[in-house]
Amino acid sequence: MKTSEHKMVTQQENPYSEERIEKLTEKVAKQLDEKRMKHTLSVAHTASCMAMRFGEDPYKAYVAGLLHDCAKGLKNKKKLELAGEYGIEINEAEKDNPDLLHAKLGSILAKEEYGIEDEDIISAIRYHTTGKPDMTPFEMIIYIADFIEIHRKPLMIHDKARKAAFTDLEEAMRVILEGTLAYLGKKGAMVDPITQETYRYYNEKQA
Ligand SMILES: [Fe+2]
Ligand SMILES: [Fe+2]
Repeated sequence: MKTSEHKMVTQQENPYSEERIEKLTEKVAKQLDEKRMKHTLSVAHTASCMAMRFGEDPYKAYVAGLLHDCAKGLKNKKKLELAGEYGIEINEAEKDNPDLLHAKLGSILAKEEYGIEDEDIISAIRYHTTGKPDMTPFEMIIYIADFIEIHRKPLMIHDKARKAAFTDLEEAMRVILEGTLAYLGKKGAMVDPITQETYRYYNEKQA
């Protein structure tokens, strides 16, 4: 008796019902190609598992994962256009690679197009590519899940990052940022200064 009462209360209080998640999934699937959708679902699953581990809401983490790349399918021209419309400031790194704008744009679309009002979700989407110093556990979970989900191209640092993802979020951030900066440096790509700041922050914290 107690169990079923508990269940009913839990379902009523959860704003991310099965039905709502299904609708969001269908909607975002229309915006993304098959490969990106596979990644998206994997990020959602991974993020919800990490949320269970760290005492965050796994339904909310699933939804953030589901929507984190919702603006990724837009053409770069459209990204720049929309960024202008929404008054998003475009920095040098984003001018060099407009695809980076999908994080800022995604956080706006999550609100405007997908009806998300939860600031934790909106912020987690906003910072899922660059990170930022002093992130909340929820923001770190989405950033990390995006990197470690199993459909990503295998990388040397995955073992270390995946283990840390379920033991120490800040160490996972440090490992991933270190790898990302090394990769971008090798590629000669322009790095968003906030990514460097974020690395410095987590590197010093872990030292
Ligand atoms: Fe992304
Ligand atoms: Fe992603």
